[in-house]
Amino acid sequence: SPVLRVLGLESSCDDTAAAIVSSDGQILGETNVHQHTVHEQHGGIVPGLAANHHLKNMPLVVHDTLKKAGMQITDLDAIAVTRGPGLPASLAVCVAAGKTLAAVHAKPLIGVHHMEAHALMARMTSSVVQFPFLCLLISGGHTLSLVVHGINQYTMVGTTRDDSVGEAFDKVARELQVPWISSQEGGGAGPALERLARDGDPLRFALPVPMDKADSAASPDFSFSGLKTRIKRMREQNLFNPVVRQDQADVAAAFQLAATKHLRKKTALAFRRAREMHVDVTCLVASGGVASNLAVRESLEQLATSNGVDLVCPPPSLCTDNGVMIAWAGIERLKLGLLDPYTIDFIQRWPL
Ligand code: KG4
Ligand code: ZN
Repeated sequence: SPVLRVLGLESSCDDTAAAIVSSDGQILGETNVHQHTVHEQHGGIVPGLAANHHLKNMPLVVHDTLKKAGMQITDLDAIAVTRGPGLPASLAVCVAAGKTLAAVHAKPLIGVHHMEAHALMARMTSSVVQFPFLCLLISGGHTLSLVVHGINQYTMVGTTRDDSVGEAFDKVARELQVPWISSQEGGGAGPALERLARDGDPLRFALPVPMDKADSAASPDFSFSGLKTRIKRMREQNLFNPVVRQDQADVAAAFQLAATKHLRKKTALAFRRAREMHVDVTCLVASGGVASNLAVRESLEQLATSNGVDLVCPPPSLCTDNGVMIAWAGIERLKLGLLDPYTIDFIQRWPL
């Protein structure tokens, strides 16, 4: 079969991204404009600002990507866009850009579910990832487990009831007055907290594993706000001093241990759910910034092994929001003829 080449556009949150990917897994061109510095000063993403920046940057990002690939729109086999879920005004930018380009050049259009794209990404980088597989998305934006039966066939198993796991790492870092790592390194305080935890005693401030009591132990859902609140309270009660390095390290180690155990226990339940559905998963895919944490990774590796499969993690640069994952999901859909009309709208809330 001939090699297919697809342009993917992403602007569901605070990254304006485009990429051209081929069906043999090559990234032919890729551009990503972050807005970290735009929103950092506001302490969170401001939807109106995000949309303005997407509007300004999208044409440049598309132009740049085509130039890097040495291609024109006419050379493409299809155009894929993030259709949802996400911020409405942000989604509108990539959907409008993608469908206009596709309509003008009479190219097939593919609307992609953002989570589907995260889940399928590992299939581009590793041939081990065959259907069905178990997928754990653990980042600043997402905390969920799902069984991926095939393209367009997903069973959501667990999701967070409050904060994402990445948010929890970042909020605990704030309690410990740990500076965030610069945006160029991916943003967030997770790596700094992981470094601190290495020198800490996790048992000095032992923290309970979330959702471990009788009423919630059987649920595959996640919860991280309790850990964060507990650490906030400990600081208010002066149980530790956030400017004393050993205190920082011990609290970081306690948090990381509890968070890791929680992720592992709930992922074990996801494996069990797959078995109950008589689904024989080929591997465990863990994706997202938190999957680059070594303690988390080792724990998930053990869990995968005890379930008779391997753990597969895409490279960190492909775990964050990017255009490559949208283009790749577009290729997977194009191969199956799953195309969309030029009239599609974005979908703000969109269950998988
Ligand atoms: O996937 P990601 O880079 O971006 C989005 O969420 O969009 O995830 C970023 C999150 C941040 O909350 C960051 O603190 C966390 O992942 N993170 C980590 C580590 N590296 C990044 N958390 C724990 N340990 C790490 N090594
Ligand atoms: Zn995402």
